[in-house]
Amino acid sequence: MKLLVTGGAGYVGSVSAARMVEAGHEVVVVDDLSTGHADAVPDGARLVVGDIAELAGPLLADGFDGVLHCAAKSLVGESMQDPAKYWNGNVVTSLRLLEAMRDNATPRLVFSSTAAVYGEPEQVPITESASTRPTNTYGASKLAIDLAISSFSTAHGLGAVSLRYFNVAGAYGRYGERHTVETHLIPIVLQVASGQREQVQVYGDDWPTEDGTCVRDYIHVLDLAEAHLRAMERARGGEHQIYNLGNGLGFSVEQVIQTCREVTGHPIPAAVAPRRTGDPAVLVASSERAQQELGWKPDHPELSSMVRTAWEFLGATAEA
Ligand code: UFG
Repeated sequence: MKLLVTGGAGYVGSVSAARMVEAGHEVVVVDDLSTGHADAVPDGARLVVGDIAELAGPLLADGFDGVLHCAAKSLVGESMQDPAKYWNGNVVTSLRLLEAMRDNATPRLVFSSTAAVYGEPEQVPITESASTRPTNTYGASKLAIDLAISSFSTAHGLGAVSLRYFNVAGAYGRYGERHTVETHLIPIVLQVASGQREQVQVYGDDWPTEDGTCVRDYIHVLDLAEAHLRAMERARGGEHQIYNLGNGLGFSVEQVIQTCREVTGHPIPAAVAPRRTGDPAVLVASSERAQQELGWKPDHPELSSMVRTAWEFLGATAEA
């Protein structure tokens, strides 16, 4: 297939684009490089730098079989301080992309959605039929796009799949997580291990969980990339399918730090800090629907494999 990957210079986008090239697809990446890196675009993919809202139309006029839409603003805290950046950057840009797909009869879309659309869960593991009540602007903007996609599927026959990621982690060779502003747990803990930070702050140890720290569902970025490939192949005209993607396994902040100590051999000092606003105690996915309908299951469910590949990636980027 000839595929357009938006945000293919970012973390999930670059790993997914790399796997798509390896699977024999022709890949064009469009990215404004606001948070992505040109050197993260896989060999064999063409990079077009610029505004996706403006470029989607001219690019898709060339005739594409599908779009993988990963480009997004994705910092929860920032989304609460500067909501316009998220309504414009995520919702308006995605609408322009959907219109360009309609105008050029591009048949398939795979969209990077998020567990943040659910907000505080009523039940765990979270299924796709759970209520969607996002507690932050980031999640609300992704939910708005999911709703827009559904209506474009119904009205214009678009075959779409939204993948709602839980906590993505790990790296795939030279493709990994490189955020200028890092807020995610595993990269922060590994920065402590590598001496770039003094200690990790544990946001609360009085949560209603076994060890008192928050529990999250970590999924290997390579497993996520595999789900994107399957979703692209199985998108069906006029349908919008939605899948949660996680391990179904929860790991606490304390367990993550301990695994990082074991993998890196570094002591990694940690200090308890106040709870972070908006954090739910436990977020664990049910990926049963993805397993049944996409035939997908995580091949790398071990936390140690996510931490090890992220650690190797951090070492490689420090040397470069
Ligand atoms: N945490 C710490 N210390 C840190 C960083 C994080 O204790 O320095 C804790 C958080 O409080 C949370 C856990 O580690 O309990 C994981 O935090 P992350 O920031 O790594 O990830 P989140 O669970 O907040 O967010 C992830 C994605 C978001 C997505 C959300 C969906 O990164 O994009 O899941 O719920 F919106």
